[in-house]
Amino acid sequence: MLPHFNPDDDHEPLPAAVVGLRNAISGADAALFCTPDCAGTLPGSLKNLLDWTVGGTELTGKPVAWAKVAADPRRGEGAHATLATVLGYVQANIVTSACRHVPISREMVGPDGLVANPTAREAISQTLQATLQRHPEIPVACTLGPEDGTERMRRWQQLVQHAKPTTRRIGHQLEVQFRPGSGVRDELEALAAAEQQCCAFVAWTVAVDTGQPVLHVTASSEQPDDIEPIMSLFGGAS
Ligand SMILES: Cc1cc2nc3c(=O)[nH]c(=O)nc-3n(C[C@H](O)[C@H](O)[C@H](O)COP(=O)(O)O)c2cc1C
Repeated sequence: MLPHFNPDDDHEPLPAAVVGLRNAISGADAALFCTPDCAGTLPGSLKNLLDWTVGGTELTGKPVAWAKVAADPRRGEGAHATLATVLGYVQANIVTSACRHVPISREMVGPDGLVANPTAREAISQTLQATLQRHPEIPVACTLGPEDGTERMRRWQQLVQHAKPTTRRIGHQLEVQFRPGSGVRDELEALAAAEQQCCAFVAWTVAVDTGQPVLHVTASSEQPDDIEPIMSLFGGAS
């Protein structure tokens, strides 16, 4: 747990939690903030975290944005105004085009704590897209952990072996046609839905065209090459 900020403690050896925080920020290409409003400003705990970054300068020059998720658009103003002040103070690189209101009501949060609502997910994805548009040097990354990633790759490889897809690139879209077969459509739909969760920088949709399952992977027209790394899943495009 982060200790309360005290400039007299901001020296080596730093508390482990502060080292962890600073390393995490240093290692990130960008930071996206999401915070509730508390008594008209930032919750003290987040302000404490930000205070620890002042001496470390990890946020200086870092692309940052925020998503304001209060269901009521009139709420949350104080926190975001303070966030803008503090991030300006530490000279973070605020990507204003990426900062947006993404209303999330309590009902949208599932028992697992995740938001499955497609409109909300699309809005969050747009925040990330806007950050990438301003900072094309940031590599697009999948959010899966290494273990889940290995299992996902295994399933894709098994499906590719079984249903021998042909892949075409059409502008910023990949069209991957799979041979029909037992369980192919179900597995393709399950995998596409799973990828939509962790690789939401592109859209994953499955259609069935004259009995043949077809996967479309669509990047934004501004970032057409986001589909490049995905092509290798299917052995490249013809
Ligand atoms: C102690 C406390 C103070 C809060 N102060 C504010 C505030 O000043 N402005 C605001 O818009 N929301 C305020 N909220 C609401 C939170 O920002 C947040 O929206 C809420 O806790 C999330 O629950 P909800 O689903 O009811 O919105 C406060 C909540 C708590 C618990």
